[in-house]
Amino acid sequence: MRKAGIWGVGRALPERVLTNADLERMVDTSDEWITTRTGIKERRIAASNDTAADLASEAAKAALADADVTADEIDMIIVATVTPDMPFPATSCLVQAQLGAQNSAAFDLSAGCSGFIYALAMAASCIESGLSRRVLVIGVDILSRITDWSDRTTCVLFGDGAGACVVGPVSRGGILATYMGADGTGGDKLYVPTAYFRYSPSEGTRPAKKHHIYMAGNEVFKFAVRIMGDASLEVLRRAGLSSEDIALFIPHQANIRIIDAAAKRLGLSSEHVFVNVHKYGNTSAASIGIALSEAVDQGRVNPGDRLVLVGFGAGLTWGAVALEWTGIKERDLA
Ligand code: ACO
Repeated sequence: MRKAGIWGVGRALPERVLTNADLERMVDTSDEWITTRTGIKERRIAASNDTAADLASEAAKAALADADVTADEIDMIIVATVTPDMPFPATSCLVQAQLGAQNSAAFDLSAGCSGFIYALAMAASCIESGLSRRVLVIGVDILSRITDWSDRTTCVLFGDGAGACVVGPVSRGGILATYMGADGTGGDKLYVPTAYFRYSPSEGTRPAKKHHIYMAGNEVFKFAVRIMGDASLEVLRRAGLSSEDIALFIPHQANIRIIDAAAKRLGLSSEHVFVNVHKYGNTSAASIGIALSEAVDQGRVNPGDRLVLVGFGAGLTWGAVALEWTGIKERDLA
């Protein structure tokens, strides 16, 4: 069977920074509470004229450049998002148009913050099966449009952004194992009652208080702590690896306490764990893609390194990918 690997990575983050000090002026909270309970110091907020497709396309262009692949070589675009610009067309089709990727099929995938992992697993199987040769995977969310800015229990947690990667065939290494799961009975722990995301509520297109995130934070927290460890161990088992083999662990960036608990369960010291939650908060489906792209830019990922990516999110869903980072030499250009 053909192997799939990541050829290039990219990310897009809005310029506007919202700090904990800014939030102190908006709701009854404090930098001290947010920092100790979540690890978040600031997050990025999309401009009112930014769309999910814009952010996704910016991240995709960076990933294409990194992979040295042109838009017309892409034959599949998968966008993971819970904040698509419109019910239809799919955000992936809007991205296809922005990129000029005219030879590509395109679809969206909704798996909460696990979306990037689900999309990466789909991309790998598209390559392995021979269905596709070059797949663009993008996680994008503009959670600020569905955040209740008067609810201190949720508004301090989230941020906006996009992360992307190009997946293609590799001669060795690449994606070693994937694992995905869901528990729909937990759907009521984290949900949005209705959804039209392109416009902000002030533009009068959505019923008041029905477009915000509702979350049973403590229950999601307990689920996350358990599932991040469980899913990582399961994907390691499927890959025939153990946690000592992990050069870098890239978890969904929701809360530093969740990340620390997962790292502890795997017995990983901090130099093997990638963290950027302090800068961006929880960017939902974008989080793991942004983290992977930053890790590569920081020189923390090198050919031959074994990585575990793991996420959890609304659904409830979870997923993990174990991979061996491949260099340019391992790309199968045939
Ligand atoms: N500032 C100050 N106080 C606050 C704030 C705030 N921003 N938010 C809550 N509090 C208060 C609460 O009211 C509560 O006060 P009380 O004891 O008087 O009732 C107290 O702080 C403790 O609240 P808890 O909810 O028990 O705090 P906890 O330690 O559980 O932390 C948190 C809350 C950070 C939300 C945590 O539960 C968490 O991270 N949950 C997981 C969230 C998550 O990752 N969700 C994924 C969403 S991703 C997606 O798919 C969109």
